[in-house]
Amino acid sequence: MLIVSINKEGSPLVLHRNHISIIHPPDQEPSVRLFFIFEISILVRMIMWLAPMDGITNAAYRIVVKQIFEKYNKEHELWMWTEFMNAEGYVREPQRLVHHIIKTDYEDNTIAQIYGGDHEDLVKTAKDIAEKYPSFSGIELNIGCPSPKVMACGGGAGMMREKEKTLELMKRLRDVCGLLPFSMKTRAGLTEDDKQAQKEFIIASAEFCQTLSIHGRTYKQWHSGDVDWQMIYDIKEAVGDKALVIGNGGVKSYEHALELKHNLDGIMIAQAAIADPWIFVPHEPTPAERRETILFHLKLMIIAFDYYHKNLHFTEKFTQPSYEQWMNEVENFDISRYDVGKSVIEYRKYLFNYVGGLTGSKEFKRIAATIRDYQPLVDAVNEFFATLS
Ligand SMILES: Cc1cc2nc3c(=O)[nH]c(=O)nc-3n(C[C@H](O)[C@H](O)[C@H](O)COP(=O)(O)O)c2cc1C
Repeated sequence: MLIVSINKEGSPLVLHRNHISIIHPPDQEPSVRLFFIFEISILVRMIMWLAPMDGITNAAYRIVVKQIFEKYNKEHELWMWTEFMNAEGYVREPQRLVHHIIKTDYEDNTIAQIYGGDHEDLVKTAKDIAEKYPSFSGIELNIGCPSPKVMACGGGAGMMREKEKTLELMKRLRDVCGLLPFSMKTRAGLTEDDKQAQKEFIIASAEFCQTLSIHGRTYKQWHSGDVDWQMIYDIKEAVGDKALVIGNGGVKSYEHALELKHNLDGIMIAQAAIADPWIFVPHEPTPAERRETILFHLKLMIIAFDYYHKNLHFTEKFTQPSYEQWMNEVENFDISRYDVGKSVIEYRKYLFNYVGGLTGSKEFKRIAATIRDYQPLVDAVNEFFATLS
């Protein structure tokens, strides 16, 4: 039991797994208690955020996460992100990159993320997404990716080197997004020495952004090491209601996310969410549930890859898929209708995480790594889970 505060009646507020309760003094009326419980439940409502991850957070995975969230988390809100999409590539050859922003009508609260170093291409891309794909809940600029390829073209974390120019760009992006909110995701700075300037930059960005997502590590730290949560809390304090502030970095579990919330609007999870869609809910899956999710996700991944390849040859815009149609296909799944391509191989990165830590998973992974077709993989999964029960 963790006592987080004392209310004005002198009663301790107690933080539980996913809610706060009050230890009441014996003389309080029941109606007064109800009032306090209602007030507090609003106070702790927050956004759980599936971070953008290139190669991971595609439509199939977002559907898996959202279905689980809807079933097991009634307290909070879920927001999700696409994988990031390169603006220069999209402007020249949208057919090659549009798969980064495929989304069904089920995934509301999903933001399309873009990156790049060419400001004109970024503006064109944001405008194009806003006009052609208005079902997104927003468009976001990546100002944090540390990959040398992305930095080399002046994009991602490279934008932190030119903070003034990046602020001007954000203003332009906000203007072309029309009715879609514009947001940005960034880091704690380039290095420790850059933190103060970065803090000022992020606070100034609130002028143009609906949401500021902050990975509390510097560019130098990449994806590991200490996360500066205090810096993120201080930014929220300074920004107030001007923008939502979402904290990110090193979140290990659902409980950990609740502990870190403090004054933030939400908490974002990346690496720990790869193939752990239950991290956003206060629920541990049984082996049977895990097996069902694995097989459901595998079917969805095949359906999504096939849909993408069959609809690539567009001129004006890509036709976004229908969730109902995909669910029908899952229900009446017939592998002979699909070009499996590389989807089974691509699925391994999720599968290996789904089974990680289970008894015998090492041997299972060794076998699964040699499988390239749907049915043999399903058989292997079923065999493996039979050994667990
Ligand atoms: C495989 C992978 C892909 C990522 N792709 C993106 C991306 O497309 N856009 C982005 O803003 N951040 C991306 N990130 C960074 C994460 O969104 C997140 O900021 C970072 O991993 C820190 O969060 P964590 O400690 O919970 O992993 C990626 C991270 C990983 C591990």
